[in-house]
Amino acid sequence: MIEIVNLSVEYGVSGQRSALSEVNLAIAAAERVALIGANGAGKSTLLLAICGAIPASSGSVSIDGLPWTKREKDNPHGKAGLVFQNPDDQLFMPTVYEDIAFGLRSNNVSVVETDKRMEEMLTRLEIAHLKDRMCHTLSGGEKRLAALAGVLVMRPDYLLLDEPASFLDPRAKRRFVALLDSLAQGFILATHDMDIAARLCSRVIILKEGKVFADGGTGLLDNEALMDQAGL
Ligand SMILES: Nc1ncnc2c1ncn2[C@@H]1O[C@H](COP(=O)(O)OP(=O)(O)OP(=O)(O)O)[C@@H](O)[C@H]1O
Ligand SMILES: [Mg+2]
Repeated sequence: MIEIVNLSVEYGVSGQRSALSEVNLAIAAAERVALIGANGAGKSTLLLAICGAIPASSGSVSIDGLPWTKREKDNPHGKAGLVFQNPDDQLFMPTVYEDIAFGLRSNNVSVVETDKRMEEMLTRLEIAHLKDRMCHTLSGGEKRLAALAGVLVMRPDYLLLDEPASFLDPRAKRRFVALLDSLAQGFILATHDMDIAARLCSRVIILKEGKVFADGGTGLLDNEALMDQAGL
């Protein structure tokens, strides 16, 4: 369970810009949540705060009861894996293979298990042909797939996906949606793609100006007045 209590996040040295204010949410591990909201509503900030990549200004986030404080640097036991909105923020090793395998290697996963999981992931995302390429030479969609692979291969308990289908061509998008749909685990998916949200998710959380504006079933997506009020 991810528990978010009175979470506020401000950016800037003296916290001039409020990105999230007083957010309260409880999200169970198996839930498939679409996180939607207009540009700047706070979706990416919320995902970054959940995995601890940015500190809370006040309030708290805990994952499976483990508190998250400003002091901790890593994910609580690597429980939450975030696919960043911009793949350039994620890929940092020279080659695709090294980048995707980085998490497994730094968590001392055995060579045999690493090879097995790598092969499976490269095959499922159809990116085996990219494995020896330099990351910075990939196209936008190729970078996206490599970044997704690096997180999925870790099999995190909580999967946080920030616009994961952006840059993907229709075929890659279908493959990716099918892959997500086949996962037993839940995920939180920040997206502007309402088709993907409706197809994959059972819960919809709408953010507006840093606050939870609505939280409910996928019926929210069909509520035109509500979507309009949310700036969507
Ligand atoms: N590093 C930063 N420094 C200052 N302000 C920031 C920073 N990152 C985000 N913000 C601001 O915080 C607010 C929330 O941004 P956030 O990126 O979380 O929105 P979002 O819902 O993910 O938007 P989008 O749909 O465009 O991805 C915005 O007003 C944004 O300008
Ligand atoms: Mg964003």
